[in-house]
Amino acid sequence: MRTRVTEMLGIDFPILAFTHCRDVAAAVSAAGGLGVLGAVAHSPEQLDVDLTWMRERTGGRPFGVDLLIPRKYAGSDEGGLDSKGLRAMLPDEHRQWIDALLERYGVPAMPEANEAEGGRRVLAIDPKSMAPLIDVAFQHGIRLFASALGTPPAWLVERARKEGVPVAALAGRLDHATAHRDAGVDLVIAQGTEGGGHTGEIATMVLVPQVVDAVAPTPVLAAGGIASGRQVAAALALGAEGVWCGSVWLTTHEAETAPTVKEKFLAATSSDTRRSRSLTGKPARMLRTAWSDAWEEAGAPAALPMPLQSMLVADAQRRIHRVAHQPGSGAQQLVTYFVGQVVGQMNVAKPTRAVVAEMVEEFLSTMERLEGMLGEG
Ligand SMILES: Cc1cc2nc3c(=O)[nH]c(=O)nc-3n(C[C@H](O)[C@H](O)[C@H](O)COP(=O)(O)O)c2cc1C
Repeated sequence: MRTRVTEMLGIDFPILAFTHCRDVAAAVSAAGGLGVLGAVAHSPEQLDVDLTWMRERTGGRPFGVDLLIPRKYAGSDEGGLDSKGLRAMLPDEHRQWIDALLERYGVPAMPEANEAEGGRRVLAIDPKSMAPLIDVAFQHGIRLFASALGTPPAWLVERARKEGVPVAALAGRLDHATAHRDAGVDLVIAQGTEGGGHTGEIATMVLVPQVVDAVAPTPVLAAGGIASGRQVAAALALGAEGVWCGSVWLTTHEAETAPTVKEKFLAATSSDTRRSRSLTGKPARMLRTAWSDAWEEAGAPAALPMPLQSMLVADAQRRIHRVAHQPGSGAQQLVTYFVGQVVGQMNVAKPTRAVVAEMVEEFLSTMERLEGMLGEG
C-alpha cells in the first residue's frame, strides 16, 4: 500500500497502532505498520528500557511515542504542580465517596506490603515532567511523535523538526485540527467519538472528511471505530491516508490487558461502552461497568480536573484490579478499562501480527469488491 503516510514513515501499510504495551507496538512495526507506545505513565527510566527492547525486536523498522499534552489541567497556570501539591487538592468528600463505593462492592483494602507509594507516578502532562520523556524518545530514534488532548507546543514542534521526526496530533473537532495545522504538525489524527480513551462527540464518518478538507495538504489519519479492512477502506475513502487504531490491540495475545478485562472485552457488544470522566477527569470512552454507572448515580461527586481524578482513583483502581479475577466478586463487576465501540467486533483473541494481516487482506478484497461496482462503460 502506498500513501503519503507510508512514504513519510517508511512503512508498508498505513496502519498505526496506539498502545501502552511495548510487545504490541513492536509486533505492529514488525508486521509492516507503525507501533506507537503511549508513554504518559512511564518514568524516563522505564521508557528507556521499553524503547531499547522495542529497538532490538523491530530490526530497524520504525516506531513512535505518544504523550498527552492537554492545554488545561490542575496546576497548568503554575506550569504543573508536584505530586504533594496535587495530592493536597484531593477533597475529602471524594475520597469518602470512593471508600463507600468499594465497601458497597466488598473490595478489600490493599495488603500493607503493597501500600507503599513506590511505583505510583503522576501522569506526565506538564512540560517539566514531559521533557525527560521526550529526551529519551528522541535518543531512541523514534520515527513519529504523537500528542493527544492539545496542540503540541512550539518548542516541541521545533525540537522534533530539528531531530527530523514528524509530529502528529489527535483532534476530535475541526477547530482542534486547524489549530494543530497552524502549529505546524506533520499529521493530523481525526478521532471520532466511537474511539476508546479520551474522545469527543463527533463520529468518525462525519469528522474525517471535514478535517481532511480543512487541513489540506496536511495528511490525515482516521481514528475511532477502525478495526477491520472494511473500516480501513472506508477511512481511506473519506480522504484519510492511513488509520490509527487503539482498541483492537487490547485483545491480542501480546496485550497486557488484565485477563478479566480481556474476557469482558471479548464478550461485550458495541452498546457496552460509555464516555465517562471517572478515570481521568476528561471524557474517555471505556467499558460500561458498575464503576462507570456509579459515577452517574445521584449523589456521585463530579469528577476532578486532570490529573487529580487519576490520582484520586489510583488506589481504588489498584484494589479493584488486584481481586477482579475472583468470580462473582464486586471487584469483577466494577473493573473497567478504556475501549471503543469496536469492542463489539473484538470476539476472538489473536496474535497482533494476524490482526494486521487480516486488516490488509480484507482491505484488498474490499477494494476488489468496490472496483466490481464500476460499470464497464
Ligand atoms: C486503552 C486506551 C488508552 C488510550 N490512551 C491514549 C493515550 O494515552 N494517548 C493518546 O494519544 N490516545 C490514547 N487513546 C486513544 C487512541 O490513541 C486512539 O485514538 C483510539 O483508540 C482510536 O479509536 P479505537 O479505540 O476505536 O481504535 C487510548 C485508547 C485506548 C483504547
